[in-house]
Amino acid sequence: MTKDAVIAILKKETGYISGEKIGQALGISRAAVNTAVRTLRREGYEIQSSTNKGYRLTTALDTLHTGDLMALLSPERMTSIECLDCVESTNRSLQLRALEGAPEGQIVLAGEQIDGRGRRGRRFYSPPKKGIYLSYLLRPQELPSDVTTITAWTAVAISRAIGQVCGITPQIKWVNDLYLHNKKIAGILTEMSIESESGHIQYVIIGIGLNVSQKADDFPEELLSSAGSLFSETGTRYPRAALAAAIIGELDQLRADWPQKKAAYLDAYRSSSIMMQKEIVILNQKDSKSAVVTGISDDFGLCVTYPDGSSEVLQGGEVSIRF
Ligand code: BTN
Repeated sequence: MTKDAVIAILKKETGYISGEKIGQALGISRAAVNTAVRTLRREGYEIQSSTNKGYRLTTALDTLHTGDLMALLSPERMTSIECLDCVESTNRSLQLRALEGAPEGQIVLAGEQIDGRGRRGRRFYSPPKKGIYLSYLLRPQELPSDVTTITAWTAVAISRAIGQVCGITPQIKWVNDLYLHNKKIAGILTEMSIESESGHIQYVIIGIGLNVSQKADDFPEELLSSAGSLFSETGTRYPRAALAAAIIGELDQLRADWPQKKAAYLDAYRSSSIMMQKEIVILNQKDSKSAVVTGISDDFGLCVTYPDGSSEVLQGGEVSIRF
């Protein structure tokens, strides 16, 4: 859309840029530029205009629209990114695209989810304008059993993206959560479709939810003691578009690296683990067991020792830490 292209140009420009120059870059008239600017102002962007100089974006709002990403990613990458205001669940939307034949690397991103999905049928709190809700499509040729490590690799990818933009390294709670100051700031839900006759993977969807600008008391009652955001834990407001672009860059890198370049991801996963030597509770369907975490295995399993001295490597499941 024209307005997306116009805001992308204004975001890249530090000073004024004339309507004529914008029009030339986009192959549209000055009047069309003017119409786009009026639409953008209605959406909340503050754009100054000066008769001789043209237009200038004055306040950088924390928006997460197509144009905000266009300012940060290449036109080729943007062709497979769908950036929406509000969806039921980005994993669900991308699942529909996958069934329609969308290519590997396709992304659905939203500023709000009304039914954001978490692991084990839970919901992921996804309020408007506060977080990043992003789903990424993979079509691996590997066996379904090999794909289980992708969630752990993704935790490293998000952690790296946060490091790039915010200069901090979150901790990773096995297997799919990112923590800052003992508060969960991000979760990952990986969903896969397998053809039952052949056992061939049709698609894998990596879904990422990152809490960016919630205040500590913005979370619903049941999450108040456990959830946090980049803002609530650091006191700094980080632009969601820059974070989303960094996450996309890291996921593209993951796609190129997986499964060959395991060592770097495993090292980062181990050194960011919040769980080393911690007492945990392993939550099973029937009962729960206490254990102490002794390490992360070479295939991203959780090494634990039980009170009776026996040990095990967990490959999946739900654990809670005693902070
Ligand atoms: C968890 O913490 O249990 C996983 C949360 C995953 C949430 C993300 S938000 C984007 C994507 N779409 C969804 O419906 N869920 C994932």
